[in-house]
Amino acid sequence: QQAVIGVTGLGVMGRNLARNFARHGYPVAVHNRTSAKTTALMEEFGHEGDFIPAETPAEFVASLARPRKMIIMVKAGLSTDAVIDEYAPLLEPGDILVDGGNAHYADTRRRERTLRELGIHFVGVGISGGEQGALEGPSIMPGGSAEAYASLGPILEDIAAKVDGVPCCAHVGPDGAGHFVKMVHNGIEYADMQLIAEAYDILRKGAGLSPAEITEVFRTWNSGRLESYLIEITAEVLAHTDAATGRPFVDVVLDQAEQKGTGRWTVQAALDLGVPVTGIAEAVFARSLSGHAAVRGAARELPGASGAGLEASFADAVEQALYASKVVAYAQGFDQIRAGSEQYDWNIDLGAMATIWRGGCIIRAHFLDRIRAAYQADPATPTLLSDANFAAEISKGQDAWREVVVAAIRRGIPAPGFASSLAYYDGLRAERLPAALIQAQRDFFGAHTYRRDDREGFYHTHWELPGRPEARIDV
Ligand code: 6PG
Repeated sequence: QQAVIGVTGLGVMGRNLARNFARHGYPVAVHNRTSAKTTALMEEFGHEGDFIPAETPAEFVASLARPRKMIIMVKAGLSTDAVIDEYAPLLEPGDILVDGGNAHYADTRRRERTLRELGIHFVGVGISGGEQGALEGPSIMPGGSAEAYASLGPILEDIAAKVDGVPCCAHVGPDGAGHFVKMVHNGIEYADMQLIAEAYDILRKGAGLSPAEITEVFRTWNSGRLESYLIEITAEVLAHTDAATGRPFVDVVLDQAEQKGTGRWTVQAALDLGVPVTGIAEAVFARSLSGHAAVRGAARELPGASGAGLEASFADAVEQALYASKVVAYAQGFDQIRAGSEQYDWNIDLGAMATIWRGGCIIRAHFLDRIRAAYQADPATPTLLSDANFAAEISKGQDAWREVVVAAIRRGIPAPGFASSLAYYDGLRAERLPAALIQAQRDFFGAHTYRRDDREGFYHTHWELPGRPEARIDV
């Protein structure tokens, strides 16, 4: 008997993905560099389905039905290249080699190009949902050729999470498109987490609520428009008491956030594309700031404001600030996907991306259905903020949003996510921006030219001459 699909790399994600295929009735080949993990998988979960264990890559490849479909589940980076180098000579034209790791999309583009020359379909797939998602139904973001998707896609759709019967998996676009979208997903994940953390901090320090009280606030929010996996688990975390000390668990954890890099990549890519993802950037930098222990130590005694004094009912305003800032984070993320899609000719369907994020992934939420609806109503909508429904909600909540930012600033509670999202909103809606002044400054010191709002063309003012005459510049 031959396997329909294979998984090499049986860490927790690989193992759970293989089990997911097996549970859906697909004979699945499994392989790991060291066979102990393969043996453990067979012993513990072999009864769950049709696993075909392989000791060597050659054995693994031989057990796959043609065209072969195999998924690499190793730590993104050099190990991925090593595994590809090992398998490429064993595969044949038409075979499909899938990378299910959190690879950088530029690496995926490079690998796809190289393997295409050998006739092998290389498919970079973003998989979100952590260990449990991999096992019970992740959100899957496959890139690669349409031809590869035609035979691989139905299997992935089968094991993906479903919302209203619709699989959380769709062909994103060619080469690195899947990994690009997964990267932006993670950037949005960072922003979402940072905004939730700021809401918690304001309720804790500003309104003096205990973690147990904030748990209740989050549970209430979770039955409203903020309903999401991240809000739900935040309530769980805040409700947890440390067994060793009896203190709230959140007080015991060292307050230095780590990162594996996908949030940083999102911001780096956004800088290159010229897309302002300010909320995501603040979230990445907030993690960096938290980890700067020595600098924080040196600054600890600096004067500042402090104080509580907010009523518990202020939580309603915080909910509005959180919601509005969240809309901004998603608007920025989708903006970046659109820019990436244009840059690389991926032709990504933004509404479809919102659809496949409704379930399975870390940022899953009902909210995504509203984004899906916004793109359905107008696929060319320039920003989610101008969608009629989101615009109406934000206009209702914007006073509260401003109040929350002011309240945090007055009390010396850092809320970079809330504040920068609000600045983004105000920046976009401004009738005129001081960018005009920046253009004039650039022209003054560097003759960089400017455009006028009343005439076409580029101009330079001779700042050094009397009367400062203006000249039209041919470019
Ligand atoms: C997912 C997650 C996952 C990521 C973790 C940790 O979608 O399942 O995004 O891919 O590895 O969230 O990311 P950081 O270590 O960078 O916080």
